[in-house]
Amino acid sequence: MTDKHALIQPDRGQKSIPIHLVSKDSFADWAKGLTNAQRAALEGQKFTGGGYEVGIVPDGENWFAVGGVANPASLSSWCLAKLAETLPAGTYALAQGDPGKALLGWQTAQYRFTRYRQDSEQTGPRILLTQDAKGIDAALAEAAAIGKVRDLVNTPAEDMGPADLEAAAEALAKEHRADCHVVRGDVLQRDYPMVHAVGRAASRHHAPRLIELIWGDPKAPRVAIVGKGVSFDSGGLDIKPASAMLLMKKDMGGAAHALALAGLIMGAALNVRLHLLVPTVENAIAGNAFRPGDVLRSRQGLTVEIGNTDAEGRLILADALTRASEEKPDLIIDFATLTGAARVALGPDLPALFARRDETADAVITAGRAHDDEVWRLPLHDAYAEWLKSDIADTNNNHTNGFAGASVAGLFLDKFVGDGIDWIHFDTYAWRPVAKPGRPKGGEALGLRAVWHMLQARYG
Ligand code: BES
Ligand code: ZN
Ligand code: ZN
Repeated sequence: MTDKHALIQPDRGQKSIPIHLVSKDSFADWAKGLTNAQRAALEGQKFTGGGYEVGIVPDGENWFAVGGVANPASLSSWCLAKLAETLPAGTYALAQGDPGKALLGWQTAQYRFTRYRQDSEQTGPRILLTQDAKGIDAALAEAAAIGKVRDLVNTPAEDMGPADLEAAAEALAKEHRADCHVVRGDVLQRDYPMVHAVGRAASRHHAPRLIELIWGDPKAPRVAIVGKGVSFDSGGLDIKPASAMLLMKKDMGGAAHALALAGLIMGAALNVRLHLLVPTVENAIAGNAFRPGDVLRSRQGLTVEIGNTDAEGRLILADALTRASEEKPDLIIDFATLTGAARVALGPDLPALFARRDETADAVITAGRAHDDEVWRLPLHDAYAEWLKSDIADTNNNHTNGFAGASVAGLFLDKFVGDGIDWIHFDTYAWRPVAKPGRPKGGEALGLRAVWHMLQARYG
């Protein structure tokens, strides 16, 4: 399936530049096989075999590359990413062994966000050859999913509003012959009252909506995927300070993850009945904005007192989770940039995972470790649910004691997930503040491949 422009291609004996891999420990031994001139060249480049070091070795009229990795016999997803970022354009192949998991990093390292500016770097593509034809398709699919999350998150709110998320979902549905339908306006107000309330202050063009996509065999186990699609989070009337608002174009990161995961599932024709739900709004400020102290009646019937208009994500997710639960799915997965507290607890690398069932959590954690996409579990500790008590409604959307914010947000969502349904919730940052090899600064997929591999094991 790979086309001739792909950055990873099957090795059919094409001409290629060898890449040797060494570790800090194996470098000295390996270098014994080099000429004095070659060793001198590497010394001049300060190459010592450390992780992510890249060296160029002259070889007669030609040259080859050497990369430092932790263990040349077992490559992680990111081991070749620095090579893919820094080598000159050309076609490469490992001198020994196969890239395996590192195919992914080769591809994601060459991601660029070019919507508003062409790549300033003039280097052409670096292509990697591999014997592992099946590995190519899997790596390219996962890298494309990651690229999709990055593109959607990096795009500013004006160009990635609810209407644009709708267009992205429609395009995805068309690509995979799924059914897509979108609820807006009066019907949204009636059927998804909290989505409507949060989004109603936005301009007409950015009007709130609930996007639903259905795909797959109706008799297969049903999996619902829900993503928080807040195209911009000003905080609402409880307005955020400028520094906290600056990055809030990324508040649709959960929706980006949900769309990308749906794409992986449909692309691999996983044996599930997929139900994707994206509630999408701009949390804007205007005369008709919902207010602190208002009481909203949710789709499920529970009344919600608004303690803080900035806790908007849980409101729109609540109505979507109710809708997902109505179909009695085998599993509900939601992704959301839900709380600053999750970021404080775990930092930007690790998305917080919440789960009702230990086995499901363990399966995601194990898959994440195996595929270099780690997630960390935080508790849904029942005793904290009482902090959400309201004086006049069934629940508040906010608690004020400052403790365990990510867990309390999860407990709020739990009220809207049908009894007994297997449910996992990701509170993710969806953003990489500092680049790492293969992972540029900006929008980022976190936990996406952990879930994807868990789903493949569960339903594949
Ligand atoms: N979108 C934010 C959460 C967020 C903030 C994620 C910063 C990543 C970085 C969410 O809607 C929000 O504002 N949450 C509030 C909740 C509070 C008002 C209960 C928060 O975390 O401060
Ligand atoms: Zn908010
Ligand atoms: Zn938000």
